[in-house]
Amino acid sequence: MNELRPPFSSDANSSDLIVTISDVHKHFRGAQVLRGISLDVRRGEVICIIGPSGSGKSTLLRCINALTPIDSGRISVCGIDVTDPKLDKLALRRRVGMIFQQYNLFPHKTVLQNVMMAPIQVMKQDKAEVERRAHDLLAKVRLTGKEACYPAELSGGQQQRVAIARSLAMQPEVMMFDEVTAALDPETVKEVLNVIRDLAQDGMTCMLVTHEMGFAREIADRVCFTDGGLIVEQGTPAEIFGAPRDPRTQQFLQHVF
Ligand SMILES: Nc1ncnc2c1ncn2[C@@H]1O[C@H](COP(=O)(O)OP(=O)(O)OP(=O)(O)O)[C@@H](O)[C@H]1O
Ligand SMILES: [Mg+2]
Repeated sequence: MNELRPPFSSDANSSDLIVTISDVHKHFRGAQVLRGISLDVRRGEVICIIGPSGSGKSTLLRCINALTPIDSGRISVCGIDVTDPKLDKLALRRRVGMIFQQYNLFPHKTVLQNVMMAPIQVMKQDKAEVERRAHDLLAKVRLTGKEACYPAELSGGQQQRVAIARSLAMQPEVMMFDEVTAALDPETVKEVLNVIRDLAQDGMTCMLVTHEMGFAREIADRVCFTDGGLIVEQGTPAEIFGAPRDPRTQQFLQHVF
């Protein structure tokens, strides 16, 4: 959907790949949750991951960000080997922003302070420069004027957009969103989806787990359907929503539409 983005092609230069996942397995207490997931994400691509509850969508995102260690396989993000025992998690998480359903803002900090905190305290960046960027980011997520508010004074959708700005303040190369609108009322859902749409149109690489099928259809370059810890089927939104091939995808989409 972004004209600036390189076209999807099978012979794309491998340096275009920003996330590579190969044959990833993960179990929790004997239960296999990921059973051999492989997925390559190109710079600027928007990937939507859909699938039934418990199919491993959140686990996959958490593995990419090294929040959950994997049992076997390989994950690499911006050339960083996520499975390296000597992994620098800070270096990884600078490049991968992750937004969850719950926003986890610091309640005693203002909106502006929430956005500025990590670049100053973790990255030791110049305060004036970080503040300038924070104002730009708050404008981007359409929250200009709310800088001095505390999280409790904002709607859920506004808080979620602060969380997005806070994550963008670390200047990530990939953004991952895990059902970020699931807890919001319909009006605020739209505000958050608009912000994600803007980011995607700006060329940000995005991986989204979402139950918003209409949004996935509109925004995704590629849709992955997961079931039982596997990517059962993937393709363009037209392929997956218009003519799903696998019976499991067909059955899932029958239930959600
Ligand atoms: N930390 C954990 N300890 C034990 N089991 C876990 C843990 N995290 C996830 N699981 C299990 O792994 C399976 C996959 O969970 P996951 O959260 O990845 O699913 P999901 O596809 O994101 O589902 P949903 O759509 O409900 O969010 C589930 O059966 C879940 O109970
Ligand atoms: Mg989940």
